[in-house]
Amino acid sequence: MTMEQAIITWIHLVSAAIWVGGSLFIGVVISPLLKTMSTSLEERLQFMIKVGRRFNKIAIPSLIVLIGTGIYNSITFLNKPDLLLSSSYGNFLIVKIILVVALILAYAVHVRIIRKDVEEKIISKQLSDNQIQKLRKKIIILGEVTIILSVAILFMAALLDAGV
Ligand code: HEM
Repeated sequence: MTMEQAIITWIHLVSAAIWVGGSLFIGVVISPLLKTMSTSLEERLQFMIKVGRRFNKIAIPSLIVLIGTGIYNSITFLNKPDLLLSSSYGNFLIVKIILVVALILAYAVHVRIIRKDVEEKIISKQLSDNQIQKLRKKIIILGEVTIILSVAILFMAALLDAGV
């Protein structure tokens, strides 16, 4: 392995740590903690949106870097479609890429749901309790899907690494 490859793997790993670790921290630490607080649902939702916006500043670049370094890691394989289909490494790589595409879609919807105008509606109390509940449910489900996909992608990375 050359130094260049090691550095690319290192960048891939650091970005994976930021993306997966950060999403899990929000889902497993911040979100349950917030539920125990006696603030209103609107205030909690607003706080989570702020946390999400902050996290996006580092999470989205990490995801982009993961995709860039991931493609770099697999470029020789991606150039050989027959090997992609005939080897287990190639098959795991395809599954990994499909999961990454699903992750990007889930995350894009997740981010789109909490656009600025929606946030403003929450702040100015233009949404009914029912609308807020529905919004919250969608955000929670998409957040969970994001985390599950991310952990599944790590499993694909483990299979690739182990050469199963
Ligand atoms: C959320 C996105 C991603 C996460 C969390 C992730 C995570 C990881 C991790 C933890 C490794 C282990 C490091 C290693 O053994 O080299 C890895 C390796 C790798 N990743 Fe990713 N990755 C992501 C996206 C991608 C994408 C989009 C591609 C390809 C287009 C990709 C291709 C690879 C390849 C080829 C390896 C090397 C596997 C090996 O042979 O050891 N990754 N990834």
